[in-house]
Amino acid sequence: MKYNRILLKLSGEALMGERQYGIDPARLAEYAQEIKLIHDKGVQIAIVIGGGNIFRGLAGASNGMDRVQGDYMGMLATVINGMALQGALEDAGMQTRLQTALEIKAIAEPYIKRKAVRHLEKGRIVIFGAGTGNPYFTTDTAAVLRGVEVEADVILKGTRVDGIYTADPEKDLTATKYDTLTFEDVLKKGLNVMDTTAFTLSQENALPIIVFDMNKPGNLVKVCDGELVGTTVNV
Ligand code: GTP
Repeated sequence: MKYNRILLKLSGEALMGERQYGIDPARLAEYAQEIKLIHDKGVQIAIVIGGGNIFRGLAGASNGMDRVQGDYMGMLATVINGMALQGALEDAGMQTRLQTALEIKAIAEPYIKRKAVRHLEKGRIVIFGAGTGNPYFTTDTAAVLRGVEVEADVILKGTRVDGIYTADPEKDLTATKYDTLTFEDVLKKGLNVMDTTAFTLSQENALPIIVFDMNKPGNLVKVCDGELVGTTVNV
């Protein structure tokens, strides 16, 4: 495999599958099988998952809720998703550890970088919950932060589109996909890959980002094998 250690970012919405809300167990099981393919090939896997299928801090704020309160609720949503994913991965026969940025000791280990790295070295999949533990940060930022901290080789952003396009492919049928971009290209062209905080953190640490369609079976293993799937952003 091209990559030895990856940070996989999954969106909370993706867990909904065909549902409008919450978690689809069938989708979780599919993801577990995709992850197992790379786990069996010895890739060290850290995962950050969003919480948008349960609660979005920003949406709460636009409805008049206090932003900070909403963001903490969103962080708890990512813990719920992390627990669900942990269960699905373990059902599929993988060892996992869930670490959270907010301490909830009865259900997860607190985030400790050195412990996370040790788990990865032992072949355990480490899921990072509760984002960065701070309001005003996205789970994309948490993904890049944890990726930098545990020295992942790459951030794999699994989404439902198959890469970065000239325009939103769900709205503009003439949009075309990029195979590779530099961080500077993304900024110059004003493309939307991740929020600015996440993107800048990745750029400053020269940590490549690959955006790919996680819902297409076999894609994750192809990406880890270095095949040109999705769009790669690199220095
Ligand atoms: P090694 O010592 O590297 O082998 O790691 P380990 O995770 O197996 O050892 P440890 O004794 O730390 O953990 C044993 C189990 O307890 C694992 O399933 C951990 O996820 C869990 N665990 C460890 N610390 C905590 C905690 O603070 N809260 C919760 N809920 N579980 C914990």
